[in-house]
Amino acid sequence: MEFPNLTIGDLVAKIPIIQGGMGIGISLSRLAAAVANEGGIGVIAGAMIGMREPDIRSNPQEADRRALRREIQQARELTNGLLGVNIMVALTNFAELVTTAIEEKIDCIFAGAGLPLDLPKYLKEPGHPKLIPIISSGRAAALICKRWWTKFQCLPDAFVLEGPLAGGHLGFQPDQINDPKFALERLLPEVLEALKPYVQQIQRAIPVIAAGGIFTGGDIAKFLQLGAAGVQMSTRFVGTDECDAAPAFKQAYLDAKEEDLTIIASPVGLPGRAIRNKFLDDVKEGKKVPFACPYRCITTCNYHEAPYCIAQALVNAQKGMLTHGFAFSGQNAWRVDRIMSVKELIATLQAEFALA
Ligand SMILES: Cc1cc2nc3c(=O)[nH]c(=O)nc-3n(C[C@H](O)[C@H](O)[C@H](O)COP(=O)(O)O)c2cc1C
Repeated sequence: MEFPNLTIGDLVAKIPIIQGGMGIGISLSRLAAAVANEGGIGVIAGAMIGMREPDIRSNPQEADRRALRREIQQARELTNGLLGVNIMVALTNFAELVTTAIEEKIDCIFAGAGLPLDLPKYLKEPGHPKLIPIISSGRAAALICKRWWTKFQCLPDAFVLEGPLAGGHLGFQPDQINDPKFALERLLPEVLEALKPYVQQIQRAIPVIAAGGIFTGGDIAKFLQLGAAGVQMSTRFVGTDECDAAPAFKQAYLDAKEEDLTIIASPVGLPGRAIRNKFLDDVKEGKKVPFACPYRCITTCNYHEAPYCIAQALVNAQKGMLTHGFAFSGQNAWRVDRIMSVKELIATLQAEFALA
């Protein structure tokens, strides 16, 4: 069986796969365009996107804006497919990046790491781009719907529901991460239920896209069967030629064993999943000391007390300097065993989906 389409209002992706935004340079124009060319939605991540700009320390806001604009334009040159941006709500320059993406006529904005309660206020034209909050509970879905409806008379075009097996920062308390009550399979029906009254009210679908630990075509089939309209996948896309990280970052995935996956207490106040290494061991053993904050990138960052700058550590990792940083990853990073093209990856997923 062929993959079904993923329909979000008047946008139709040929395959129901969104490549999740991976900040600090892991998903930029090259990866996003490659995914869009295969019929999925390719997502450029906004967090620290200006990391290679000469003025990233002196004028981070402007550096990020310029780099985001350029990455969207470059991606557009490489594809006619669907493109999104991922902009974390906790970024200090959330508003500027959202405005820039809208000016560049991006197709979708994905916003998580906080509730994007005011996102519709940036729209110039209703329905464009599609606004897609990333949530981790039915409660968050209902809260956003209620707020958007009361304040803006609109509702999200779709939701990404991110479960506890995802990579990077997680929307769960540490004790919830391994609790079966919070498994993606359990959260999905809860979110669909929470959205029911709103779907009835507006008489249109609010697609829910499942994310976190989805690795094979069989997984995709399973979540579509449970009621998801599509899936968002990230870890698997790190194992592609087109992923924008340095080869050493991808190698960290290839080398990772299951026991290397770990949960850290990120300086930004959320738990995060990463691949354990010497850098993280040193942090744990108290061998790192507080630093001067170079970027002021995250509103919730406790940089006065944090023993390292997470933005700098992730920049270093993206560039392949893993002795001075670490790789964020989903729980399935250890299953990535070779680097392939995005085309081959999508074909593999399609074949697995057909079998399932
Ligand atoms: C390296 C990496 C960086 C990530 N960066 C972001 C980010 O900047 N913003 C965000 O909302 N999610 C981020 N995520 C989460 C993913 O977009 C995605 O929802 C999640 O990892 C899906 O689970 P999977 O990796 O098991 O497929 C990141 C994930 C990884 C692995």
